[in-house]
Amino acid sequence: MAKAPSVLILNGPNLNLLGTREPEIYGRTTLAEIEARCREHGDRLGLAVECRQSNSEGELVGWIQRAREAHAAIVINPAAYSHTSIALLDALQAVGLPVVEVHLSNIHKRETFRQHSYVSRAAEGVICGFGAEGYAMALDALARRLVKEQES
Ligand code: DQA
Repeated sequence: MAKAPSVLILNGPNLNLLGTREPEIYGRTTLAEIEARCREHGDRLGLAVECRQSNSEGELVGWIQRAREAHAAIVINPAAYSHTSIALLDALQAVGLPVVEVHLSNIHKRETFRQHSYVSRAAEGVICGFGAEGYAMALDALARRLVKEQES
């Protein structure tokens, strides 16, 4: 049997505070719970899942640059860096892996400064507004694509 393709799930600044951070916007699910659900969902889909979070843009860039060594795709919630970081966009474009961007909140319903994401230019698709469920939706989308690739 072929080895399970691996997906790197990256979460950006302040997402370590999920559960207590503005729960009316981001919900009450903690990052640890989201990561555990992603690993379980990955198991069901035949994907290996590795999760990391950083408050530092440079650390996120480093992980993206090295992602090709071990991963077949990236799911990223760049948090506030979505709206500011050409460095994250460049890193994602440089590695060329399939990327799904996730936001817990619907950024298009929020302040104007949140309605543009640099990272979206590197993404195959963007899922926003479905809360913690968005990560599972991203894995569903990638599983279809990666399993298809493995079969061809
Ligand atoms: C977020 C939306 C961003 O605007 C914000 O800076 C975040 C979280 C979301 O998941 O809804 O930190 O990416």
